[in-house]
Amino acid sequence: MQSPDSLDRPGSTLRITRPDDWHLHLRDGDALAWTVPWSAAQFARAIVMPNLKPPVVDTAQALAYRERVLAARPAGADFQPLMTLYLTDRTPPAEIARARASGAVFGVKLYPAGATTNSDSGVTDLRHVHGVLEAMQREGMPLLVHGEVTDPEVDVFDREAVFLERHLQPIRRDFPGLKIVLEHITTAQAVDFVLAHDARDARGAPLLGATLTAHHLLHNRNSMFRGGLRPHYYCLPVLKRETHRRRLVEAACSGDARFFLGTDSAPHARGAKEADCGCAGCFSAMHALELYAQAFEQAGCLQRLEGFASHFGADFYGLPRNAGSIELRRQDWEVPQRLDYLDGEIVPVDAGVRLGWRAVASAAPQQQA
Ligand code: DOR
Ligand code: ZN
Repeated sequence: MQSPDSLDRPGSTLRITRPDDWHLHLRDGDALAWTVPWSAAQFARAIVMPNLKPPVVDTAQALAYRERVLAARPAGADFQPLMTLYLTDRTPPAEIARARASGAVFGVKLYPAGATTNSDSGVTDLRHVHGVLEAMQREGMPLLVHGEVTDPEVDVFDREAVFLERHLQPIRRDFPGLKIVLEHITTAQAVDFVLAHDARDARGAPLLGATLTAHHLLHNRNSMFRGGLRPHYYCLPVLKRETHRRRLVEAACSGDARFFLGTDSAPHARGAKEADCGCAGCFSAMHALELYAQAFEQAGCLQRLEGFASHFGADFYGLPRNAGSIELRRQDWEVPQRLDYLDGEIVPVDAGVRLGWRAVASAAPQQQA
């Protein structure tokens, strides 16, 4: 990778190994023809979240969903969806061996029941899934965690920190060999939790890692209230105060391989967000790399982008790093205000904001105005 000083001129380019997205919502049905091309244009692989309606709870459903995602790839795209199962109170421990044997399932997602979009079938009490966690530890199947308590007594801004103490600490203690990804971390406490647990698996890879979204690196909670209520910055876990954002940026820029890219791109139609009870989720798949580049550049650590985006996640999951590369070009451009989406439209995160890098994607979808 070039030295940062050589990257200041207009037209400068930055070439990095093709990246992967370790946390992505593609939805299902007609939405796939829209979501898959955006991610396939920038990423070689993605961990695909299972919170469909109804959720993807077993291997057979994950394999069928995988086929639907593959069928939605643009001609010539080699994008690989890495499937996940949705953990419920009734997941049989024997499902884990089936999932592992399929070769297509790469994680099991823990949503505390009611924590976020389509999490109603989630886990109501961790004691119900001890048998499954044991099987996952045995099989080397990662647990992907939405780390928020659902206790209505707990302030919404504290739900991640409380989850770490109440739930993640005991899971870590009781299943010391279980691989865990703490997804879309938003707090200094989450960064500290990851830093404090440095156990490794037999390959020397970390047993605990964390994904970071671009919007949590770029925004603090003021963005939700700038001049009025801004629903397109509402996601879960919710944006936190600036001190937390800074710790996230520090973690992403540290070069510590336990922190890696997961966009949590989560499309919702404009009407579902600008509503009486608006949905949580930010759509960032169309410009994910550009947003991350912006965050890393602002922090003066663009040279650390490649490890974070293209190496550390693959290393964590024990998968080969990608062959090939993607180019980012220094270019001033504006994120579109809206994109056509199914029967309506979608507002991408940071709509109307000017960004300084543009990914030269292999098969970029037609830019919808
Ligand atoms: O903001 C979010 N949106 N957080 C999640 O955990 C789920 C996601 C979605 O599926 O829309
Ligand atoms: Zn998510």
